[in-house]
Amino acid sequence: MKPCLVPLVFIVLFLSASCKRATPGPDYQATKVVTADSAAVVSPHPLATQVGLGVLKKGGNAIDAAVAVQFALAVVYPRAGNIGGGGFMVIRTKDGQAAALDYREKAPLAADRDMYLDSLGNVIDGLSTMGHLAAGVPGTVAGLFEAHKKYGRIRDMKELVQPAIELAERGFRISPTEARRLNGFQEGFRKYNEEPNPFIKDSFQLGDLLVQKRLAETLKQIRDKGAAGFYEGPVAEAIIAEIQSGNGLITMEDLHKYEAKWREPVIGQYDGYRIISMPPSSSGGIALLQMLKMVAPYPLNEYGFHSTRAVHLMVEAERRAYADRAEHLGDSDFYDVPVDSMLSDAYLQARMASFDAAHATVSDSILAGNFKLLKESFETTHTSVVDAEGNAVSVTTTLNSNYGCKVWVDGAGFFLNNEMDDFSAKPGVPNQFGLVGAEANSIRPEKRMLSSMTPTIVEKEGKLFMVLGAPGGSTIITAVFQVFINVAEFGMGLEEAVNAGRFHHQWLPDAILIEDNAFPDSTKQALEAMGHSFNTVGRMAVIKAIVRLPDGRLQGVGDPRNPDDDAGGY
Ligand code: GLY
Repeated sequence: MKPCLVPLVFIVLFLSASCKRATPGPDYQATKVVTADSAAVVSPHPLATQVGLGVLKKGGNAIDAAVAVQFALAVVYPRAGNIGGGGFMVIRTKDGQAAALDYREKAPLAADRDMYLDSLGNVIDGLSTMGHLAAGVPGTVAGLFEAHKKYGRIRDMKELVQPAIELAERGFRISPTEARRLNGFQEGFRKYNEEPNPFIKDSFQLGDLLVQKRLAETLKQIRDKGAAGFYEGPVAEAIIAEIQSGNGLITMEDLHKYEAKWREPVIGQYDGYRIISMPPSSSGGIALLQMLKMVAPYPLNEYGFHSTRAVHLMVEAERRAYADRAEHLGDSDFYDVPVDSMLSDAYLQARMASFDAAHATVSDSILAGNFKLLKESFETTHTSVVDAEGNAVSVTTTLNSNYGCKVWVDGAGFFLNNEMDDFSAKPGVPNQFGLVGAEANSIRPEKRMLSSMTPTIVEKEGKLFMVLGAPGGSTIITAVFQVFINVAEFGMGLEEAVNAGRFHHQWLPDAILIEDNAFPDSTKQALEAMGHSFNTVGRMAVIKAIVRLPDGRLQGVGDPRNPDDDAGGY
């Protein structure tokens, strides 16, 4: 052995010396697939996954871990992890109790249904996506405290905030993906923010140390004063000062009034599976269940994965669900969403009466959709957690676009969301995801904008089976749908199911959005002959999922579509 050790020591010394000359790379590495005996966490960043696992190992449950991961993501995943945005959490406890928490952002009290229209009634480009007026009232901090109050086990919330404080204070080395994103958004950062600012720099490199002192101070306020540390006092004052400096609408009253809300989860059967997902103000759960119920009568497993028949059927279900989304879905506190009707077997059978196995249905062509901004907007975060007792959490949070509206709260160190763009600024005019909406999703003071986030938990034969969800704008719902179908119908393991190419139809525009090379040219040509057309995109939603294996162990899978996605477990 010894003779071999000498050269090895030399190599190590040489390598570490040469590493010192260059900027050190990140001191973490993403793991895409993990098999675990007891517990698992899958998040969009290895440092956040480590925080979650640390909480679980200290005796925290899945809810504690999910909360700590969210705070950590606000530091290490600034393009979407947040305290300046909002989200949804679906919980299934070890004894099968299901819950859904809505901490979606709200329109400010001063918001108006026509606030993004010019004097001629046309939508003003960019007003709902960039700058202070695009921000909704943030819900994340209220949501995390509410989840912890009801379900947390580690009594002192401070323990769940502290890891994030340390990451912000000490700094962390950024990944190549984060460096690329930061470089790509400099123009927006410079337009809306003063320097010095930790996010403004001529060129970020992989391994740069990102230290966020102001965010650390804000997190300390939250640690010491609870949600009031965000919605009252110096942090709230900093938010309002920032908003006023850019003619935004959020007021102190908006912050004081913000509340997270427990909702009735939407639950439905598919074969032997029970699907638990998010109700309005997300469209995710209802649209997912609609699609599943529409395809359920057909032998998808006989058709085969990515066969022409399977893709055609799934696309037609997607088309119909997104058409319903545009018309009927919005914040149920403001609009009477017909949840039961939309999920009734009779309604969905009628919806598929026009399904033609040989031809594409033509979407209503009066309203125009638009995919062109999709590349900008694939950012949101999802985290799936299962603890050693079998409690499960599926949580999706977002700033909407990368780094939200690009406004960094100068006195408090975090980006604000641009979630107002998820409202329908004008009926029939597409938002940045090409989604159209109607009265159900019009802007009203204190209303929550419609989301596509689809945090989901699946039971099989009464037991926890799968936890999944994704970032990815309008493509989230179809990604959750397809990954589940890949497992349930096409017999795939979770890794194969997540990695498989995806397609997406959202009614308008009337085209199938497909990932590059998602399926063979022959399938594409056959679908074209049936009347379908295609748009291509590099990647769509980014799934983070955990499945219970037949031997009882857990498998966590991060999506290769995001190099930083990380699965951990023990
Ligand atoms: N902001 C993306 C969504 O909520 O669907």
